Parts: sequence; C-alpha cells; structure tokens
Amino acid sequence: MKKIITYGTFDLLHYGHVRLLKRARELGDYLIVGLSTDEFNQLQKHKESYNTYAERKYILEAIRYVDEVIPEKDWQQKTNDVKKYGIDTFVMGNDWQGKFDFLKPYCKVVYLPRTPGISTTKIKNDLK
Ligand code: CTP
Repeated sequence: MKKIITYGTFDLLHYGHVRLLKRARELGDYLIVGLSTDEFNQLQKHKESYNTYAERKYILEAIRYVDEVIPEKDWQQKTNDVKKYGIDTFVMGNDWQGKFDFLKPYCKVVYLPRTPGISTTKIKNDLK
C-alpha cells in the first residue's frame, strides 16, 4: 500500500483544501493528514484558527480522500513521521516549494500547484 502524507491547518475547510487532498490521495492508496494543533498554530506558526483542532479534525475525517489525521505539534516531526508511518510520498502545496526537500532521502517530495484565488486568510478578510 502506497502511503501519502501532507500537513497543514485546514481551517474553514475550502475548495482549495479539498482539491489538494484529492490530488494527494490520488498519488497513492492511503492519505495521512498531519493537522497543526492549536498550540503549534499559536506558538510557532503565529496564526489563530477559527475552528479548534478537534473541530478541524472532525471535518477532515469526513472528507473521502482522508484516511487518517494525526497531530502536527512541531516543525521537526516530519522526518520521524515519514519513517514511523512508512510514507512513500510527502505532499504540500507549492507555496512551500523547496521547503521540505530535506525529506528526499526518505520519501518522494511533491509540491502540487495551489488552487488560485482562495485561502483561509482571504475568506476571513472577505467576511470582515
Ligand atoms: N492549499 C492549496 N490551494 C489553496 C489553499 C491551500 O493547495 N488555494 C494547500 C496549501 O498549499 C497546503 C494545504 O492546502 O498544502 C493547507 O493549507 P493551509 O495553510 O491550511 O490553508 P490556506 O488556505 O493557505 O490558509 P492560510 O490563508 O491561513 O495560510
């Protein structure tokens, strides 16, 4: 079984997120999402999510392309996760192009084109 992993906050889940998850899942048979915890968002990513970790996890688990959700608690865990879960391919949107190439000794690293015109930040700004 070919396992894929991706990471993110996935707050106010939108069309761009679902397209990313669909394309990631199509690269293999099992998709794990490393979901940023509230503490990680606040303390290290300096972003405040609208939905809590539990809510974001609940929503992601309802998406057909997502097989498993694990917590992302720090920037350093990715190499361990790739080894621990036997990951074949690490996927991120291309806003992260090149940032995770250090995983290449352990798995394939793929940056998928972002869906233009949508982001959680844009949704929040538009609704203000
Ligand atoms: N993503 C995407 N297309 C978009 C928005 C996000 O492909 N239009 C991807 C990102 O590249 C990332 C994943 O979805 O791989 C999770 O992104 P996240 O940062 O949680 O979502 P954003 O909408 O970019 O949130 P923010 O505006 O808070 O940065």
